[in-house]
Formats: sequence, C-alpha cells, structure tokens
Amino acid sequence: MKDLFEKIYKDKGPLGKWASQAEGYFVFPKLEGQISNRMKFQGKDVITWSINDYLGLANHPEVRKVDAEAGIAYGSAYPMGARMMSGHTDLHETLQNELAEFVNKEAAYLLNFGYQGMVSTIDALVNKHDIIVYDVDAHACIIDGVRLHMGKRFTYKHNDVESLEKNLDRATKMAEQTGGGILVISEGVFGMRGEQGKLKEIADLKKKYNFRFLVDDAHGFGTQGKTGAGTGEEQGVQDDIDVYFATFAKSMAGTGAFIAADQEIIDYLKYNLRSQMFAKSLQMQLVVGARKRLEMLKTMPELKEKLWENTNALQNGLKKRGFDIGTTQSCVTPVYLKGSIPEAMALVKDLRENFGIFCSIVVYPVIPKGLILLRLIPTATHTLEDVQITLDAFEAIRARLENGTYKRLSAAVMAAMGE
Ligand SMILES: Cc1ncc(COP(=O)(O)O)c(C=O)c1O
Repeated sequence: MKDLFEKIYKDKGPLGKWASQAEGYFVFPKLEGQISNRMKFQGKDVITWSINDYLGLANHPEVRKVDAEAGIAYGSAYPMGARMMSGHTDLHETLQNELAEFVNKEAAYLLNFGYQGMVSTIDALVNKHDIIVYDVDAHACIIDGVRLHMGKRFTYKHNDVESLEKNLDRATKMAEQTGGGILVISEGVFGMRGEQGKLKEIADLKKKYNFRFLVDDAHGFGTQGKTGAGTGEEQGVQDDIDVYFATFAKSMAGTGAFIAADQEIIDYLKYNLRSQMFAKSLQMQLVVGARKRLEMLKTMPELKEKLWENTNALQNGLKKRGFDIGTTQSCVTPVYLKGSIPEAMALVKDLRENFGIFCSIVVYPVIPKGLILLRLIPTATHTLEDVQITLDAFEAIRARLENGTYKRLSAAVMAAMGE
C-alpha cells in the first residue's frame, strides 16, 4: 500500500510544479504599501493592475475611518457563533435589507466568504433529483458547489446559448424521470476574460424551459448597470435571476458576500446554508464596513464613472495599438500574447523591473498552451497617466517578445531563479 503523501512528495499539482521558479515573484508576490494604483513590489514602485478594488474604496479615507472606528467599537471577534445560534445582530439584518433593496430583490442573506458561500448555496438549492446545468468556464466556487451535488450535472460550452439549449433538452428529459428541477448557473462577468454572461439570452430560455437561474456576479456588482447593481441590471434581467450572488471582495473592497432572492427562498437558505449554519457569523467590523461601502457605491456615481473612464482609455488604447484583448465586455482587461511559459516569465519580469508595471500573468494549464494572458484590472484610483505609461510599456514588451529578446532572456531568468 502507498503512503498517502507519496503523490504530494512527487507532484505539487499543475501550478505547484512551477513553485521553485515562480514563488514570491509570479505567484505569492508580496505587494506592499496602501492599496492603490501605485504600490511597491520588491522595493520598487509599480503601477498595480492586479487588484479588484474597482471603485477605489479599499483605501478611501472615509472607509478607513469607518473600518477603524468599527474595530474599536466591536473588536474583531463580535459576534461569536453562527448566525442561527449567537451570531445574529440588528446590523447584519440592516445590511441584508440594504443589499436586497439595492439589487432589487425581496431579501438577502450574508455569507462569510464568497467562495464557501457559493458552494453552500448550490448545495442548499438542489437535491439528488435535481439537475444542474452550468457554464464550463465557471469559477472554482461554482465547480466545487456542483461537486457536492448528488444528482446529474451538465456543462454547456462557454457562453454558448445553443449548447445551453441542448443541455436543457437533456436535463428536462432527465428531470421528468427523476422528478426534480433544473438549476442553471452562469457568472455575470467572467473574471478571467471579462465577457458578460449571456444573462438576457439565458433568461429568455425560461419561456421554453422550466429552470431556476443562479448568477455569480462577483465582478459585475458595483461595476455594471446604471446604478452599479450589477450585470442583471445592465442587461435588464434582474427579475429573471432567481438567486443573485455577489462578493464584497471586489468593488466593495472588503470581505464577505451575499445572496439575494425572493423572501421565501432566503428564508429557506437561512435554515439550510451549511456554510452559515456551521460557521461563525460575518464579523461586525466587516458588516459596518460593508454598509459604508454600499452607501458610497450608491451615492458616489463618480467612482464608477472614473473606473469606466480608465477602463475605456486602457481598452481603446490597447486595441488601437493592435493588441488582442479578446471579447471583454467589462472592466476586466485581458491582453493575449503568443509565447512559451519561460518567455512569459521573462516578459513579466521586464514589465515589473524595467517598466514598473505589475499585472497578473496567466499561462497554461489555465489557458491554452502557447498563449500568455496578462490580466489588467483598472480601478477608480488609476490615472490617465498610468494608462499612458502602461500602453507605452506594452508596446515595448511586445516588440521585445516578437524580436526574440525574451526567448534569449528566459534561459537567464531560469538560471537567476535557481533553475
Ligand atoms: C466569480 C467569483 N465568484 C466567487 C469568488 C469568491 O469570492 P470571495 O473572495 O468572497 O471568497 C470570486 C473571487 O473572489 C470570483 O471571482
């Protein structure tokens, strides 16, 4: 018999195998300083394009003040216990009501983290007779929620309504046999490539098929829609979304998340969401902080306007210079380049060391082999000067990529990193 750890000693997994070359630099980098458009990486000033602080609330003086005051008033422990037992307060309820009203739903319920909250929401919404149909490019929290499901599940091709229909046909036949229902899951905005989920087209299918619709709007909440209420608002289909989910980890620059739905659904989830029934309640400092952020999100449209001014300048500038930014329909700005993983490493090192640009890098196996994805997240704290500097830097690194500089350098990078 094998030692359980044998596989772990041998293989650190698809990303872990790059640890010796990548850790501390490409993965687990330590960004220092106040969260903003300019931070420090390894002692150097960098323009940061890798933080989902879309509205620039993370370090807003009013937010910092409320966070600090709430820390003094409540500490970081209160309330103790799960919501159901001893972790419930008026302010948790108030925040839920404010969130529900903002996203135009009857009720809302707080989640401690988006990830486990989504896993738990999916788990609570279905039983073994039900069928889940979800986008193949779904976020890991959706995939893990589906993993808990004891019944059938189908994926449809990414954002492909025809493929969804095919799977709804299959799911409908199956549900008729099992006596269950169907849950369709999409993201509002897909965080890697930036496309909006085809919420309108999916909602239109409700005329033909009987299903309930769950939307993870982590990247859309606060950034999309006239009031910032998200991608459902943007596409005019918020009423057709049966369960709306968003996290505080992005435009709200906090921790925690929520789901919003009809009162009866929330009443059910309150009693059946295992991640909330068997885990400590969202701490008060985060609740108070989230209320402040929500108020600012609602009353300071200039934050979203600035975010979009920066987004448009960045995306139009990249397109004008001939960069492939895929099919983004949101602030998420992917830049696709062709190259190997070692070339990608040399390129990102050049961007950081010589151009002072810090962005995330995504390579195989997350995207196809031979492609490099640099992901830029604009925020309201960026300036048009940041955008200009970044566009110029991107032109320079593309020229170096194309003339083979990174191919030559990659060997040196590997050596410098102890390979
Ligand atoms: C689409 C999506 N859903 C859920 C989550 C998880 O949210 P949280 O960070 O609050 O756990 C994320 C990442 O933050 C995300 O991008």
